[in-house]
Amino acid sequence: MTTRSVETQDEALDNVRVSNLRVNARETPRGIDTRAPEFSWNLDSSRAGVLQIGWQLQLRREGSTDVFWDSGENDGDQPFGHLYSGSPLRSSTTYLWRVRIRDESGAWSEWSGEVLFETGILDASEWAGQWVTAQDDTAGALYLRGPALLPEKIDRARLYVSSLGWHRLFVNGVDHTGPALVPRFTPFGKEIEYQMYDVTDSLRPGENVVAVAVGDGRYRGRLGIFDRRNAFGETLAAMTQLVVQSGDRELTFVSDSSWRGGSGRITQTDPKHGEHADLRIAEDDWVSGSTAPHRLSPVRILPAPPVRLVAEQVERVTAVARFRPRVWRSPEGAQLVDLGQNIAGIVRLRVSGPAGRAVRMTFSEVLDPDGELDVDWILHNPKKPWRQRDEVILDGTERWWQPWFTIHGFRYVQIDGLDDELSADDVEGIALSTDVGTAGSFTASDERLSQLWRNVLWSTRSNFVDTATDCPTRERSGWTGDIQVFAPTATGILDSQAFLRRYLRSVSLEQRPNGNIPPWIPSERTGNAGPLTHVVSEVLGNSVGWGDVAVLTPWDLYRYYGDSSTLERQYRSMQLWVRRLARAARRPGASRLLSRRFGEHEKFILDSGFHWGEWLRPGEGFAMLDGTLHGAALATAYFERSSRTLSAVADVLGRDHDRVRYLELAERVRTAWRAAFVSDGGRRIGEDKQDDYVRALTFGLLSEDEKPRATERLAELIRAAGTHLATGFLSTPLLLSALRENGQADLAMRVLLQTTTPSWLGQVERGATTIWETWDGGYEEAGRARASHNHYAFGAVAGWLREELAGISPASPGYRRIRIEPLVTEYLDWVDASVQTPYGEIRSRWQGTPHNGRLEAVIPAGTTVEIVTPDGVTTRSGSGRITVAWPETRTG
Ligand code: BGC
Repeated sequence: MTTRSVETQDEALDNVRVSNLRVNARETPRGIDTRAPEFSWNLDSSRAGVLQIGWQLQLRREGSTDVFWDSGENDGDQPFGHLYSGSPLRSSTTYLWRVRIRDESGAWSEWSGEVLFETGILDASEWAGQWVTAQDDTAGALYLRGPALLPEKIDRARLYVSSLGWHRLFVNGVDHTGPALVPRFTPFGKEIEYQMYDVTDSLRPGENVVAVAVGDGRYRGRLGIFDRRNAFGETLAAMTQLVVQSGDRELTFVSDSSWRGGSGRITQTDPKHGEHADLRIAEDDWVSGSTAPHRLSPVRILPAPPVRLVAEQVERVTAVARFRPRVWRSPEGAQLVDLGQNIAGIVRLRVSGPAGRAVRMTFSEVLDPDGELDVDWILHNPKKPWRQRDEVILDGTERWWQPWFTIHGFRYVQIDGLDDELSADDVEGIALSTDVGTAGSFTASDERLSQLWRNVLWSTRSNFVDTATDCPTRERSGWTGDIQVFAPTATGILDSQAFLRRYLRSVSLEQRPNGNIPPWIPSERTGNAGPLTHVVSEVLGNSVGWGDVAVLTPWDLYRYYGDSSTLERQYRSMQLWVRRLARAARRPGASRLLSRRFGEHEKFILDSGFHWGEWLRPGEGFAMLDGTLHGAALATAYFERSSRTLSAVADVLGRDHDRVRYLELAERVRTAWRAAFVSDGGRRIGEDKQDDYVRALTFGLLSEDEKPRATERLAELIRAAGTHLATGFLSTPLLLSALRENGQADLAMRVLLQTTTPSWLGQVERGATTIWETWDGGYEEAGRARASHNHYAFGAVAGWLREELAGISPASPGYRRIRIEPLVTEYLDWVDASVQTPYGEIRSRWQGTPHNGRLEAVIPAGTTVEIVTPDGVTTRSGSGRITVAWPETRTG
């Protein structure tokens, strides 16, 4: 292969600056409880070819000029993953830190500006607040309030709040929570989050009112496929601790028996079914009145839940976008609203009408063929109908209203009960999601592909709520398989590192000692789930592709973020899962009971236990038993994949014994898999479905001479399906790579650009604004929609758009070395993409044809890149702006 040298353009001989300082993968986090926070930064320079070869960190306490910790000068090219190692940090303290780096010339940069982080409560013994609730359990929200008698001087005040159910905090009437849904969903039986609020500016000398409302949230509200309430408890409660700095004194005020509690205006707070409020019940008296209203009585003190209170590890779920909708009347005269975008969120509505009048908002992702709101699409179960519906009883005044404790998956809303014709000015759609920035962009000369990418972005936003969910409508559960297939893509859509770390932490908390992983995380197993839930979870928790999240997703964090500390933290969980697979393989399953054809390899063939299998292959519907009855080739392939990945993890962590052990296991499984499932030199694999060939090719299970034959068979199957994919959840994300890497780029493009079902662009052409759970969305037969319209799993193709069509991928963990190898194709004139990496942003844009074109890239400081153009030439370069052209004679 030809190589050519650098074409970077020096803009100026300018020094390196250090920017984008982050702690625990977040900007200026407040209220964290890690004893060894993790520091990262980016380099900034318009000079080309910048590298970091050393770094130094300094940290001081706010209000003091003394250096509290100095890391000293260190060698190293990673601007991330550096852990604090000074003397113990103090709780509730603000620290300021700065960093400088040594560049490739040996020169030190200037110190960065100082950036803060703040600790929360670091030691459980510091909690003094009591858990309080109303005398009688409230059906709706729980309203609590308590006093704080403060001195003249208030220098700094922090209020820590935890709750059983979502809460909203007010201090003297000032809303400190806003639309955020906190605390997040954790395995509540083991861990509950607390929030830290800076309330300095809301307090005053003398009497103060701290008011907390608590809704069902994920604690008491309906959850998952079974739509069950009270999974963790029936009683809502909260605990607060206010820490006030007054000169040299530190004063603490906590929730205790001086508090009052009861009910109020919110009469139903279900996270799925919606919120009901009666505006005739006052609120001002509770939130800031000088005396508590009569409906509140002295609280009941609860024993503290026997769990760990943990700080927030990722940004809150809050308003991330607002929409001005279109409003009109349906053929039957219903008042309808269209946001123009399917989202997870709520609606803010201007209401007016006589006191006692009910105004209802009913939410849906779809309209029926007659243009009416379709509320039946999501479950289609006449025995268990449910609506995402908010309802408000008016008090006779005109006002804006929005719910506090619910979230809906919707694009359309029907509004009933208003006298006046609604105008677009009376209603606002509010998307709620984890408040992190986007981590990439993608546009192409074919606008449909740009729209496909936006649809994936919105499905990510809608499902990156308080855990990574399957959909924001039906189950809203943290299905392991969905995030397992989607995580690599997510890293280039939203800033996902802290979010995925947090998910994995819950995975290890929920994992059973036998390695089993509940199929959705958090499960209800740490709550008061009945025996049936335990059995279901135990059985479903065997499934490969789903449980493999324990091994494959930490590895993805390592690949895309260079995150070796996650590998360390999750290592035990990974081992437990692989051990489980090995144990399950030794147990004879369905196929071996029928024939003992696997011989000596038998104990490495995984054909026992429940498996979801490929899941949702087009035309097969929700085939519940397929994976269990016909899934041995699939399950064994995942057994191999996880064992091999674990060996690679052990290698990174320097555990040599384990590296060898898991590699040997992977080799034995691979040999067994090949003996059992490959015949005709690779032309016949497993069940002879498209996904059998995709897995074989992308998991590296075939020999070099088998690959062309397997590829040929895969291409044949695709052509026989009319140039359509026939893969499901697990292999769809891998299909196009399998084709491109094996000389079938043209076929990959034709499948990508296909518009008849099943296809990505078919959905786009039918006006989809998110990714659907099923390829046809149910529209084809009766014109009615079925199933979820906001499942990101099939949207994993956006990862392929970034990594192969635009061509940007990490050549080493965390993109320290970058590879840009775009698929320049006659089907498109140009592709433009960017991705945020731990080193900063990579941009790349190509235009032209495979025979004649150019590529412009911007490479972040601290990295190097190799760009492979369609003429087979590789260009190596350091950071900066780079332009390459093909054929090579046109360079420059
Ligand atoms: C969910 C999925 C999930 C699946 C398990 C469905 O009901 O919506 O996305 O992975 O069950 O196969």
